[in-house]
Amino acid sequence: VFVTTNKVSAIVDLFHQRLHTIYDERELQNIILLAFHHVMGWDKMTFRQKQDSGLSESELLAFNFMVKRLQKHEPIQYIIGETEFYGLSFQVNSSVLIPRPETEELVELIINDFKEKSIRILDIGSGSGCIAIALKKHLPQATVVALDVSSKAIETAQNNALKNGVEIEFINIDVFSEDILKLQSFDVIVSNPPYISVGEKNQMRSNVLDHEPHVALFVKHSPLEFYERICDLSKSLLLPNGKIYFELNEHYEQDYATLFQKYTSMYTLVKDINSKLRIGKLNF
Ligand SMILES: C[S@@+](CC[C@H](N)C(=O)[O-])C[C@H]1O[C@@H](n2cnc3c(N)ncnc32)[C@H](O)[C@@H]1O
Repeated sequence: VFVTTNKVSAIVDLFHQRLHTIYDERELQNIILLAFHHVMGWDKMTFRQKQDSGLSESELLAFNFMVKRLQKHEPIQYIIGETEFYGLSFQVNSSVLIPRPETEELVELIINDFKEKSIRILDIGSGSGCIAIALKKHLPQATVVALDVSSKAIETAQNNALKNGVEIEFINIDVFSEDILKLQSFDVIVSNPPYISVGEKNQMRSNVLDHEPHVALFVKHSPLEFYERICDLSKSLLLPNGKIYFELNEHYEQDYATLFQKYTSMYTLVKDINSKLRIGKLNF
């Protein structure tokens, strides 16, 4: 009997039918490509050419299983177990935030500011390790230390450093603890800290809210608490002429300005091409 349902095109239809209410067309296209890359090892071109090919029983099962998880709003990156950041591959799981493309701009800025220099860098709230690892890869002479309060995140970041062949010192510590003052000083502190207030929870999509770690997203008291703590740490953890680079929440521009002014007059707020606030750079 000629079976048509094992065709690639039938699986593509299945993704559309089951998921079009959750994801828009562009996201869905991307998800389908990632799914076929993961299960079949195909790139975009191969995927286009193979629309009429048949799939084996186990391949069909794998795609069906993925669709079921996607229907529960689980991000494709967690299902596949990896993602790309700054051209590098990172293992991700539910203990770490999925690296965002916006964060690549932060990495890019630091790389351009410190080309070829042997500086000491501290990444606070390292998650998957994406910032620390991309920096070390492009600033090989730098010494990079990364810390996170989550031991599972630290474990994942260590795997990612190994996977990308870079040496980084990882420390499992709370940025609000006093032990952090025992660290040696740094030229650069970088952080993409939690910055979402509980009030913003109801505006978030369930793929983020139900699946990404809340310790990576939400603040306890104020959206500024991590920024304030890290600015305070500048006194004991920054070398002379040191710099802090922050990823910022677009909603708090005036609050950041007021906060940063207390520590230095030499700070810049960087916006992206859509004039959305993205990065804060503080010179001491
Ligand atoms: C927004 S995520 C950023 C992760 C990663 N740097 C990135 O850009 O994808 C914030 C990270 O801060 C960590 N974190 C939360 N509270 C912390 C604390 N008190 N001390 C240290 N790290 C903390 C979380 O575990 C999470 O990995």
